[in-house]
Amino acid sequence: MSEKSEPVSAELYAYLAARTSQEDSFLAKLKLAARAAEIPSIWISPEQAAMMQILLKLKGARDVIEVGTLAGYSAITMARALGPAGRVRTIEFEDRHADFAEKWIADSDVAGRIQVLRGDGRKVLPEIADESADAAFVDADKSGYATYLQHCLRILRPGGLMMVDNAFAFGSVLEKDPEDASVRAIQDFNETMAACDELQSLILPIGDGCWVGVKRDA
Ligand SMILES: C[S@@+](CC[C@H](N)C(=O)[O-])C[C@H]1O[C@@H](n2cnc3c(N)ncnc32)[C@H](O)[C@@H]1O
Repeated sequence: MSEKSEPVSAELYAYLAARTSQEDSFLAKLKLAARAAEIPSIWISPEQAAMMQILLKLKGARDVIEVGTLAGYSAITMARALGPAGRVRTIEFEDRHADFAEKWIADSDVAGRIQVLRGDGRKVLPEIADESADAAFVDADKSGYATYLQHCLRILRPGGLMMVDNAFAFGSVLEKDPEDASVRAIQDFNETMAACDELQSLILPIGDGCWVGVKRDA
C-alpha cells in the first residue's frame, strides 16, 4: 500500500480503457447514426459509461435526472443500470437532439423507461419535485453547472449520487486566465463542488474528469 498516487498517463489511460466493458452494437450504431445526422460527437466514453453503471447499480438507483441528453447515449446507458422499474428523466433544449434521442430510445431495450424533457435545464429542473431522484448526471452547458447543482441537491434524496462531467475542462482546467468561457466556468464550478458541504465528493479521472458525490443525510 502507498499514499503516493500514480499519475494517469495517456498510456495508463489507454490500458484501463482497453480493459473496461465495451459498449454493445446498439450503442455503436447509435453513434454512427448520430455522426451521420451531424450531431456533435460529445457523448461519454464507454469506460465512463461502465463507471456510471457500476455506481448506479451499487447505489440501487431507480430514478435518475440528467441534464444534457444529446443523442441519448448516456441516458440509455444509465437506464440499463436501473432495472425494469427504473426511469431516467433527461433534459435537452435542442429539438434536433431530442428528436434523435427519442427515436433511438424508442428502438432500444429500455424503451418506455426514459423521458426526454424538452427545454432549458434552468427552466425544467425547478419543475421537478424535491427528493424525487436517486442520482443525477449533469453534462450540458458549463455556464449552467452551478445552477444545475443547486437544483439537483434539492431533487436528490439523502444518500443520492451526484455526477458531473468535464471536471478537467477538456484538459484545460489548470490553465491560468483561460480565454474560453466554458473553461472558466468549470474552474469556478470545481471550487463550488470542492466547498459543497452537502456532498462528499471527488473527481474521478475518467473521460474528461467526472465529479462523483454522495448527498449527505440532513
Ligand atoms: C455533452 S452533450 C450531452 C452528452 C450526453 N450526456 C451523452 O453523454 O450521451 C450536452 C447536451 O446538452 C444540451 N444542452 C446545452 N445547454 C443546455 C441547457 N441549457 N438545457 C438543456 N440542455 C442543454 C446540448 O444541446 C447537448 O445536447
